[in-house]
Amino acid sequence: MRVSLEQAIAELKNGGVVAIPTETVYGLAADATNDSALKQIFAIKQRPADHPLIVHIGAMSQVQDWATVFPEVARDLASAFWPGPLTLVLPAQPHVSRVVRGDEPTVALRVPNHPVALALLTQGGLSVAAPSANLFTQLSPTTAAHVEAGLGASISVLDGGACQVGIESTIVSVTADGQWQLLRPGMISEQAIADVAARAASQPTQAVESVDAPVPKVPGQHALHYSPRTPLLLFKDRAALLQECELLKQAALSSAAMLIGDGTVPSCPYVQLPNSPEKVAELLYGALHHLDAMKVDRLLVELPPNLPIWMAVLDRLSRAGYR
Ligand code: TXA
Ligand code: MG
Repeated sequence: MRVSLEQAIAELKNGGVVAIPTETVYGLAADATNDSALKQIFAIKQRPADHPLIVHIGAMSQVQDWATVFPEVARDLASAFWPGPLTLVLPAQPHVSRVVRGDEPTVALRVPNHPVALALLTQGGLSVAAPSANLFTQLSPTTAAHVEAGLGASISVLDGGACQVGIESTIVSVTADGQWQLLRPGMISEQAIADVAARAASQPTQAVESVDAPVPKVPGQHALHYSPRTPLLLFKDRAALLQECELLKQAALSSAAMLIGDGTVPSCPYVQLPNSPEKVAELLYGALHHLDAMKVDRLLVELPPNLPIWMAVLDRLSRAGYR
């Protein structure tokens, strides 16, 4: 059910759950100070309780309401990238709900860069915890229609149009002594984080360690997350994808493909995305939702080159399918 901004604020204040737009993906929001509201998020998503939630705040000045410290490096990152697709994990105030923290001693905070989300947070005087508005492990939603397709038409959705960034925020944890660590790659690159952190003379503690379980090489143990229902196969180049398309056809199996950039196209239906990390990120989940809805036997996805600018897209694709 679509709701207005005023209805969304009222429902959230009343302990309800509302899907809200952000610049990254749609979030399933609840008042971050209301435990019974927060528990509904986990129930609706079928998400394990030990997965902590991101608290969305309306302004950087509210960080001190949630975190015990706001180290210089975190402050510099927030100044550089908020409102925007960056989540900061900081030591939590003792009052922060254990449901939000997933029993961690830390809290994840972000100021989203979306006019509707910011209006909700500031006009409503709210802070909302919001994971992506999809069932656990499934594709994230970047439109109101994706939310309804995944969670059912009875969910309250505040429609803010299609998400412009398209994949989830970059997550960086910062310790009280200013050490930082990239926990999830996103469209704010690790290099961009490092450049800002270097000005605060802060060093990374170690290289990327994703919050979502690492990707095992054995397909059967693959940590599928962000995945469509249709089995999805990943290809490092176009030639390999075209060959698989033909083999599937010979085996009387239907397929559909996601391509990046120009080149020879397969004989199966396909979606072609522009050869730009920003554009692919923006359109990625929409393309996968679209291909998944075609109900073919296999989705064939071309991987972008293994370069740092493609890191966030590669991360999401590697969790969506098998190589
Ligand atoms: O762009 C986004 O971040 C979107 C929009 C809605 O803001 N949200 C999102 O939420 O992606 P979710 O729940 O799908 O992913 C949140 C990630 C989880 O992998 C979780 O483990 C991590 O954030 N996280 C949250 N709190 C944390 C904490 N205290 N320590 C470490 N990781 C945390
Ligand atoms: Mg998610």
